[in-house]
This record gives sequence, structure tokens and C-alpha cells, in this order.
Amino acid sequence: MVDLEKIKEKFLAALLVLTKEAEVLNLKSEYVGKNGVVSEILKSLKDMNADERKAFGPKANELKDFIQDQSTMRLASIEVLEINKKLAEDRIDVSLTEQIQVKTIKHGGFHPRTLIQQEIEDIFLSMGFDVLDGPHIEDEFHNFEALNIPSDHPARDMQDTFWFHDPHDTEAKDKIGKKRLLRSHTSTIQVRGMLGRKPPFRFIAPGIVFRSERTDASHEMVFTQLEGMMIGKDISVANLIYFMKTILKEIFKKDVEVRLRPGYFPFVEPGFELDIRCLICEGKGCSVCKQIGWVELLPCGMVHPNVLKAGGIDPEVFNGFAFGLGLDRLVMMKYGIDDIRHLQSGDLRFNSQFKLF
Ligand code: PHE
Repeated sequence: MVDLEKIKEKFLAALLVLTKEAEVLNLKSEYVGKNGVVSEILKSLKDMNADERKAFGPKANELKDFIQDQSTMRLASIEVLEINKKLAEDRIDVSLTEQIQVKTIKHGGFHPRTLIQQEIEDIFLSMGFDVLDGPHIEDEFHNFEALNIPSDHPARDMQDTFWFHDPHDTEAKDKIGKKRLLRSHTSTIQVRGMLGRKPPFRFIAPGIVFRSERTDASHEMVFTQLEGMMIGKDISVANLIYFMKTILKEIFKKDVEVRLRPGYFPFVEPGFELDIRCLICEGKGCSVCKQIGWVELLPCGMVHPNVLKAGGIDPEVFNGFAFGLGLDRLVMMKYGIDDIRHLQSGDLRFNSQFKLF
């Protein structure tokens, strides 16, 4: 005689671990399907004698019902489980907007150069300077002539200018009769600023400039300068040095070692190069300071009388100073960046190291 209890136990043990509808249906048919274990037992009833059938028949039928009921219940509970799982997955909890945003929205940040530029603009604004802007595409007048650099002046070669025409082709002029170039320095805004103003005045003008240069750790073809100009009466070199030192102190939040060397720029007289001790190598020598330990950061000087005249200002009455801060070098010194080319790389691994909004 087959042991119906054993069959029942075996069925239950198998049923309870099933989690899929199809698995339950398969198991059910293994027992009560056409050729299922229990179905076969029921089929065999006819071969039994009357007593046996009486004793065994109802139990086998009970087992069949039991298996069918258990299967139906298991199917129902699997359905509930599936519905709950779906609900949990599809759930949109409107109170969780913050978490959802963190997952999907990446926050941008300011480029280190922008951070420094904003900081410097604030420092100058607090000292009464205006902040001016100017065009990137310039003419010879603003980039050279008004700055005391006539066309035959050798200083034109100091800056490897990008011309829109061959610079030696004297006939090459555009519709309004000017030869065009990409400004090679922000000093172009000296003239633009003077022409619209009456002294005394002071302004700065940050912006990108372009030079056809070979690039290395400290040179780029497109880089950023911050021009400054202060015009009034009886302004001295001492005023110039005071402003420059104050600004550097504000930016680096500490006294930085500076040195002043004579420097030649046709638009200032006297002209200086203000260098700071390299903060990357602390003066020991590295690729940024070209092993000198000092970095040229701030060319400056007293505005040349010819430049004042070009700006409509009487040099007999007024004077002043101008400077052209190398903004990228300053960024490098401030953040310890050892190659200027990182600044233009567009590499988010570099950019994202700096302060967010
Ligand atoms: N325009 C000069 C340059 O780019 C820098 C400079 C500006 C020098 C103002 C003196 C005064 O090299």
C-alpha cells in the first residue's frame, strides 16, 4: 500500500519553496494531473477489493482535494507577493524629491578661473574700481597704435598676434578700413575705458586674450588677463605698488613675497614686472616658474603720455598707472595647479575639484 502521508509531506515540502506560478502549476500536475502520482493511485482503486477501496479510496480523494486546495492557495499568495513587489518598485513617493534629484541631477560648479575672477572683481569693486568688458576681435588702433605701438614698432613682435589678414599686406583691410586681429592683451580696454570717462577714474577689465604661442606648462594660446587702470592727479609708483601688494595679499590671504624688476612695455613709462615667489615649489624651482623660483604675474607701470593723449586725456594735468594681471598664473598659484593646460582641458575630473556654488 502506498503511504499517502509521505506523498502529502513530500508535496508540501516542495510547494512551500515555490515562488512562481508556473512552478506551482507544474508541481500540481505532477501529483493530480492526468498522469500525476495521486491520479495514478486513484486509477488503481478499481483494481482493489471492496474493503481496501473503502479504507483507501476516501483518503486518496482527500489527498487529491488537499493538493488542489494547497496549490490554489499557494498561487493566490504568489499573486499577492507579485502585486506587492510591483507596487513597491513602481512607487513614486512625492515626499522623496530630494533623494530622487540627488540620483539624477549632477550639480555643476564654477571653473577655478571664474572663482578667482569673481573674488578679484569684488576686491577691486570695494576699492572703487569699475569692471569693464571689451571685444575679442579688435583693430590695430586699440591693440597697438593707441598704446604707443605704431605699425613699424618692434614691440609688435613681442606679442605673436593672430591676424585676420597677413600683417605685412598693407592693403588688406576690411569694409571699414581696419585690419582685424584677436586681441593679444586686455590693454585694448585701456583706450576704450579712457575714451568714455573723465578723470579721476579707475577700472579693471578681465578677459581672454589670444597669442600664437607654443604651449607648455605655463603658456597657452588662449589665456586670461585682468587689466587695470587708475587715472587722476599726482598718482605715483608708490600708489601702484601699494595697490598691487594689497590685492595679492587679499587673494592669497597671506603676505606673498614680491619683487619688482624693470620691464619694457611701450604704453608705460617707467614699466615694471612684478614677480611673486613661486607658490608651487616655494621658490625651489619647478616647470611653472621655469626653475627660477619666481613667477611673472603682474606687468605694470605708469601710463605713457602718448596713451593718455590717445584716450583724450591731458598728460600735463593727469597721470596714472596700469597693470595687466596674469589671471591663469594666479589661479595656478592659488590652487597649486602645475600646468596651465589643465585650465582649458574641459576635463571634469579637473574642474570638479573646485568649490561648488
Ligand atoms: N598688456 C601687457 C601684456 O600683455 C601687460 C601690461 C599691461 C603691462 C599694463 C603694463 C601695463 O604683456
